[in-house]
Amino acid sequence: MGAFKFLSTLYLSTTLLLIIFGSFFCCADTNLNCGRQCSKSDSFTTENDFKANLKNLLDSLAENGPLFRGFYSTSNGESSNQIFGLVQCRGDVSSIDCGSCIKNSSAFALSECPESKDVMIWFTWCFLRYSTDNFVGVLSQTSVAIFNDTNYDDPSLVSYGLSLMSGLASSASYQNLMFQTDVLNAGMKGKRYGMAQCTRDISGSDCAQCLNSQLATFRTTIGSKKDWEIYGFNCFMWYHDHQFYFNFSTSADGGRTICISLAVLMMVVMIL
Ligand SMILES: *[C@@H]1O[C@H](CO)[C@@H](O)[C@H](O)[C@H]1NC(C)=O
Ligand SMILES: *[C@@H]1O[C@H](CO)[C@@H](O)[C@H](O)[C@H]1NC(C)=O
Ligand SMILES: *[C@@H]1O[C@H](CO)[C@@H](O)[C@H](O)[C@H]1NC(C)=O
Repeated sequence: MGAFKFLSTLYLSTTLLLIIFGSFFCCADTNLNCGRQCSKSDSFTTENDFKANLKNLLDSLAENGPLFRGFYSTSNGESSNQIFGLVQCRGDVSSIDCGSCIKNSSAFALSECPESKDVMIWFTWCFLRYSTDNFVGVLSQTSVAIFNDTNYDDPSLVSYGLSLMSGLASSASYQNLMFQTDVLNAGMKGKRYGMAQCTRDISGSDCAQCLNSQLATFRTTIGSKKDWEIYGFNCFMWYHDHQFYFNFSTSADGGRTICISLAVLMMVVMIL
């Protein structure tokens, strides 16, 4: 492990939020906790109304997320006690895994960010967000890119890989689930697997804008790499040299891919 380096560039936004990501790629065979963002402690959250509303909100998200094909947003409470929440499971994940992921990320949120009014939790299979501000449907392009800084791809594949991902950036936004994968078959050089997804509260055009802007922003750092993952508030793009997503038709059976564990060597945050 001594050879691994971990560099990060973190910005504090105006609301004093800090994004923290773990030092690994998140792979399909295990549902890892990838990152979190908790707003600073707020005594408001210790009030019983807030706690009760949050609990109801999280229960509703865990119950309904799997029923609505992996996406659900709702709010609980009234006026100043209102909390807004959203869950988005990865499009290939079964409804059972989706529900389990939402429950686990909710528990994680409560244990890691117990006094935060504004929380985001990224797991491999699902993304959970809640806040006392109504963020639902409002595009935010804040993103984090994770990649192995020395794991360069064959230079002859770089432009094909980028065009695979830019194709996904435009086509994912037209899909019912705003989720799409694609494969680049490079013959002897193997295959490259791409994924693009948006949270389904935003419009198709916002989705395309979100994905295109992630790709444009991180293009020079990720473009030459074999494995990378970008996590955002509203969209996600992953690229690997192994199949990290489930075959959709078998996803209900919980098919698993073999995933080589990779530590993260670099992380870059973009806040727009
Ligand atoms: C949720 O947590 C339980 C208990 O740790 C674990 O057995 C289960 O696999 C987790 N589910 C997901 C989808 O991560
Ligand atoms: C990063 O990539 C290099 C080159 O392929 C590899 O030797 C190294 O093990 C990778 N590091 C991690 C943490 O995966
Ligand atoms: C998906 O299907 C392909 C072709 O049938 C197979 O080679 C691959 O192993 C499957 N992957 C998973 C994760 O089930």
